[in-house]
Amino acid sequence: MATDMSFHSQLVLSVLLLSMAVSLPISHAQQTPSYMKFVLNATDMPPEDYYDYIIVGGGTAGCPLAATLSGKYRVLVLERGGVPHTHPNLMTQEGFLPTLLDSNSPVSPAQTFISEDGVHNARGRVLGGSSAINAGFYSRADAEFFRASGMHWDLRVVNKSYEWVEKAIVFRPELKNWQSAVRDGFLEAGIGPYNGFALDHVEGTKIGGTIFDANGQRHSAADLLGYYANPNNITVAVYATVQRVLVAAFPLVVPKAIGVVFRDQLGQFHHAMLREKGEIFLSAGAIGTPQLLLLSGIGPRPYLSSWGIPVVHHHPYVGQFLYDNPRNGISFVPSVPLEHSLIQVVGITSSGAYLEAASNVVPFLATAHGFLGRNPGSPAGSLPVYFTVATLIEKIVGPLSAGSLRLASTDVRVNPIVRFNYFSNQADVEKCVNGTRKIADVLNSRSMDDFKSFHLLFGSRDFRYVGPALPADVSNDAVMQDFCRQTVNTIWHYHGGCLVGKVVDRNLRVMGIESLRVVDGSILTVSPGTNPQATLLMLGRYVGLKVLRDRMRPKVI
Ligand SMILES: Cc1cc2nc3c(=O)[nH]c(=O)nc-3n(C[C@H](O)[C@H](O)[C@H](O)COP(=O)(O)OP(=O)(O)OC[C@H]3O[C@@H](n4cnc5c(N)ncnc54)[C@H](O)[C@@H]3O)c2cc1C
Ligand SMILES: *[C@@H]1O[C@H](CO)[C@@H](O)[C@H](O)[C@H]1NC(C)=O
Ligand SMILES: *[C@@H]1O[C@H](CO)[C@@H](O)[C@H](O)[C@H]1NC(C)=O
Ligand SMILES: *[C@@H]1O[C@H](CO)[C@@H](O)[C@H](O)[C@H]1NC(C)=O
Ligand SMILES: *[C@@H]1O[C@H](CO)[C@@H](O)[C@H](O)[C@H]1NC(C)=O
Repeated sequence: MATDMSFHSQLVLSVLLLSMAVSLPISHAQQTPSYMKFVLNATDMPPEDYYDYIIVGGGTAGCPLAATLSGKYRVLVLERGGVPHTHPNLMTQEGFLPTLLDSNSPVSPAQTFISEDGVHNARGRVLGGSSAINAGFYSRADAEFFRASGMHWDLRVVNKSYEWVEKAIVFRPELKNWQSAVRDGFLEAGIGPYNGFALDHVEGTKIGGTIFDANGQRHSAADLLGYYANPNNITVAVYATVQRVLVAAFPLVVPKAIGVVFRDQLGQFHHAMLREKGEIFLSAGAIGTPQLLLLSGIGPRPYLSSWGIPVVHHHPYVGQFLYDNPRNGISFVPSVPLEHSLIQVVGITSSGAYLEAASNVVPFLATAHGFLGRNPGSPAGSLPVYFTVATLIEKIVGPLSAGSLRLASTDVRVNPIVRFNYFSNQADVEKCVNGTRKIADVLNSRSMDDFKSFHLLFGSRDFRYVGPALPADVSNDAVMQDFCRQTVNTIWHYHGGCLVGKVVDRNLRVMGIESLRVVDGSILTVSPGTNPQATLLMLGRYVGLKVLRDRMRPKVI
């Protein structure tokens, strides 16, 4: 099944792969951001030093957390990647696909992997984390998320934390031809009402926020360090790969995290240790955090023993309940050229699916794959012709299908073996069928007519698909379910692996270990809202405020 399922993704990917050859014009000089003054190459870090707070992973949640804590305390951020602004592709929307495809080097900002399900996927490996490589769409969580997440949220602080992020790095996008047509198509397909530009999660069709500004420049979690961190009390070490958390287990009754070991590019080991009352925060993401806990001896005892890792604390659910929202949809070459766009509009349905869209310029060389048929504009051996590929996708709410992660190596640089078990829960399949039927409605809308091509053979107009079209009979449940399984892809919203209530408590403390918390996508049972980054950015700020507050007043549980 894995090979079948990945077939579509592979083909679309191989079309997109060719875009690697495109060299993109860089319209803006890359300025050195203000946070650079407290960013150090890990090789320049001392062999040992002491901090109030150590944040492992300078990503989407880690940066706002660090910026907040540095207001009062001495903070260290350890990030395995480099800084984003030295990679021009990271700074623009046009660089999105080239970034995902240029992952050959061990320090490239996107670390790609293929899950055991056969689906290509990616992790951020750069300051700013996945917010520095993502599609930039920004939308707050649904109200249900706050009720069901297992934490006791103070919604006033939640709102203030979202605003803190939005003031600095969130913009209103300008819709061009494809996204405007998509918005109209969603409304014609009955995904109403129209809510205009809105950061809140509201049923219907809306324009969401973006972290790309009016000049097309990306902002990311890394920028929050520049805007908000106290430069006198923060150190950010890049190319600093954390190997494990040091836990003192004896003679204390409750084991306690006391520091971390990290390694620089020259292979030297450094120790970062906690001061009294300090804490370590794991913000290494849904794959990095469970991996680090396992490598630190915090996980299922028999499993750790099978790797010869000394067991610090038996934790049966580390690396379990790992989820990824399946993405399904169609792509076609439109009859009229489209301007490049990543996600800007979302359709929030009441039937378990969210609809989004993108348009990408790719070279049309896919004849070599015997896939798109003859390329009339490009005789053999000539230069490629550039076409736009328009994409309509749906992702399901949740999901309920759960997978897991296990080590591939005790070397932290090696990606763990990941399995998401897409569609193993029947409710997920039904949501996908609902979502893909909605895509069919959108394709049938008047707004999509302009993008159909004239078909020489049949004398009719239809979409020129890249990859599988939707089944002809979308009312047939079995056929639609099969389409969902065969064409599954990822929207990169994977989460879980250290769930609240299973690995961490509602204050995100690793249960059974003192001074160790998890603040990133690994704590999430469901993906918040239509797209998670807004809520993970908010989470970093929110937890930072809570830690500062709790430390200033007498201990309350
Ligand atoms: C290609 C792509 C497109 C996406 N598009 C969108 C979108 O448009 N909108 C949206 O809302 N969401 C989007 N997402 C999802 C969103 O970006 C992620 O869910 C979110 O950024 C995850 O945040 P995090 O803090 O959990 O982890 P991350 O942001 O990934 O941060 C983890 C950090 O930890 C570092 N790290 C890991 N291990 C170690 C170690 N051992 N030592 C030191 N550092 C380590 C990593 O390098 C990384 O910087 C997208 C994701 C991807 C990959
Ligand atoms: C970090 O420092 C080391 C040692 O000086 C050097 O080899 C490496 O290239 C530096 N890395 C970067 C990205 O500057
Ligand atoms: C840095 O943090 C310490 C607490 O560890 C605090 O006492 C000190 O005032 C802070 N310094 C600055 C410059 O903010
Ligand atoms: C938080 O913001 C949401 C959305 O704007 C709003 O509906 C809600 O009332 C706010 N909650 C509080 C407690 O301020
Ligand atoms: C699919 O859509 C139907 C009709 O709107 C709805 O009744 C059903 O609950 C949806 N299925 C799921 C799993 O959400």
